[in-house]
Amino acid sequence: MRKGILSLTAVTAAAVLTLAACGDGEESGGEQQGKIGVILPDTKSSVRWESFDRPLLEQSFKTAGVKYDIQNAEGSTQRFQTIADQMLTGGVTVLVVTGLDSNSAAAVQRKAQQQGVKTIDYDRLTLGGVADYYVSFDNVKVGEEQGKGLQKCLGDKKANIAYLNGAPTDNNATLFAQGAHSVLDKVTSYKKVAEQAVPDWDNQQAATIFEQMWTQQDGKIDGVLAANDGVGNAAIAVLKKNNRAGEVPVTGQDATVQGLQNVLDGNQCMTVYKPIKQEADAVAKLAVGLTKGEKGETTASVDDPQGKRKVPSVLLTPIGVFKDNVKQVVDDGFVKKEELCAGAYAAKCKDAGIQ
Ligand code: GAL
Repeated sequence: MRKGILSLTAVTAAAVLTLAACGDGEESGGEQQGKIGVILPDTKSSVRWESFDRPLLEQSFKTAGVKYDIQNAEGSTQRFQTIADQMLTGGVTVLVVTGLDSNSAAAVQRKAQQQGVKTIDYDRLTLGGVADYYVSFDNVKVGEEQGKGLQKCLGDKKANIAYLNGAPTDNNATLFAQGAHSVLDKVTSYKKVAEQAVPDWDNQQAATIFEQMWTQQDGKIDGVLAANDGVGNAAIAVLKKNNRAGEVPVTGQDATVQGLQNVLDGNQCMTVYKPIKQEADAVAKLAVGLTKGEKGETTASVDDPQGKRKVPSVLLTPIGVFKDNVKQVVDDGFVKKEELCAGAYAAKCKDAGIQ
């Protein structure tokens, strides 16, 4: 009996060593068939792609025991297409993409389809594309959370609202704005005084755009609907320069460390927490199913008005985060307490119940 246990232990140890030797972002040498390629969009629009999505996708694929290759297009559609070509010749059987814009992502999806490779839209829907599935959060709900959050921080007083929307090339940005307007347009005491999209979610451009809004409105902006934490932080920097930070509520999204610290400082009204592990697990499950020729389970079907089709989708629920529930994001392990509560934030974390 003892010999039996010893040999089993030896086999297990060997299997663990094999897996561990596979390295990051490349094949995991799993027992599943097929290989999943993932192309993330950039590293600038949000820290989420490299800080959260990549490690969580790796974890999901390793758990599923499937080969994978995760690359980042670094904000370049040319690089996006080159990576896709390399993956397609490299034998991926499922290609997961977060497009920089619908045209370039749809071209990649058509090329994949011609080679019998299945594709999944991850986080952003490719308008006019041919993805077999779409996995994301309910992005209209993200905008609704932002709108409700701004209303909660402003109250129903007379207020001038400025909108800093996401990239016009990102279908999510359209949905975020739709959700926010569905809430704020109903509040009769609010007036939209400015609204602009931030190209590529570029935070420097967001600062310039908001500075121009502030000047044009002669500082008479009472609330900022900013579509994610990076853009929100850019607006907060301008407010700080005008000694108005903390008085003019600003929204965000992605529950980044920077965004959560701005919330703890009282300079950001709220952020939207999207438990990316759920998104990564959902796309891994569908992708692994596709490698086995299975039809995956979806929870919704989302309209692609350009492609005139309904895309089988998994839509997850976003969570509004204010000072009083930052703790939930830490308790979920999404951000590390050591990182969030460093230095002066130790006291602010304690005040927020984060021990
Ligand atoms: C969106 C994504 C958001 C936001 C933005 C910037 O498509 O859903 O999480 O951060 O991109 O990358």
